[in-house]
Amino acid sequence: MKAQMEELQARALVRIRQAQDEAQLQDARVAFLGKKGELTAVLRGMKDLSAAERPVIGALANEVRAVLEAAIDEQRTVLKEAKLAARLASERIDITLPGRRPLTGHIHPLTKINRRIKDIFMKMGYTVAEGPEMESDFYNFQCLNFPPDHPARDMQDSFYITDSILLRTHTSPVQARTMQAHEPNTPLRIIAPGKVFRWDYDATHSPVFHQVEGLVLDKGITFGDLKGTIEHFCREIFGSDTQVRFRASYFPFTEPSAEVDILFRKRHTKGSTVRTTESWLEILGCGMVHPNVLQLNGYDPAEISGFAFGMGVERIAMLVYGIDDLRLFFENDLRFLAQF
Ligand code: PHE
Repeated sequence: MKAQMEELQARALVRIRQAQDEAQLQDARVAFLGKKGELTAVLRGMKDLSAAERPVIGALANEVRAVLEAAIDEQRTVLKEAKLAARLASERIDITLPGRRPLTGHIHPLTKINRRIKDIFMKMGYTVAEGPEMESDFYNFQCLNFPPDHPARDMQDSFYITDSILLRTHTSPVQARTMQAHEPNTPLRIIAPGKVFRWDYDATHSPVFHQVEGLVLDKGITFGDLKGTIEHFCREIFGSDTQVRFRASYFPFTEPSAEVDILFRKRHTKGSTVRTTESWLEILGCGMVHPNVLQLNGYDPAEISGFAFGMGVERIAMLVYGIDDLRLFFENDLRFLAQF
């Protein structure tokens, strides 16, 4: 009987160690240790043994059971470790591969210029005011001394939403809104950046573009203050050698009025010859606030005078970066934008 048990243990151990997964391990357990298993059958046969043999064989049988159970536990650990090792191997990351560089965004050139414009005026003590892009005829025209049917309205061929609501054609309505929001004759020094809309499309015009409005009101403000301010601004943004030209002009809301041009030098390369052409590019309109506008918005022209200006941000960006077609700013072509 002892030899039979040793043979059984040897066979069982082989089977247990060959088990490739949990199911095969269970099968082995059932085959030897289960109710109908081989070891159980041997134990059942013990009743035929003599009283002297029984405890010896009984002890041996318990030993075999303990050996087989330990072997099963051990094999289970082996299987688990193998499974984990296989998973780790299949999921391994190759840290020696070069990384994929994420695309880094940056500030749009128009936003950059807008910020520079704001900085220059904030250093001169201006604060920033805002107004809506959808504007009423009242603020866009009437408060600015455009009577109904005035031909100056045609210069701003516009997007109307209803008869009395339109996409603002300039940032000047913020002048009127700011004056009306203050006590009469309060001194003001504001800029108003924002989008404006006109029915125009070519290399120097876009139906949506950006302006920065400026308004200064106080006792004793003169055209000299206006000129000094604009010249200072141009030198700050374009450099100290910038050529600035004031040209007499007309706006219903300023008197006298002027337009300001900057000399735009462009380099042309043709083969080995480089040629520079010069042309003036208009960047802003300005003037002394018209007495009617002061009055319409609660200010007394006998007490207060001031100047206003409205500059085109795209035009300024064209000059700063040497770009000859403003539509490039809106096409969102990364080959263009990535250069700034
Ligand atoms: N609003 C004018 C325009 O868009 C510019 C301007 C602003 C002119 C303020 C004078 C004073 O053309």
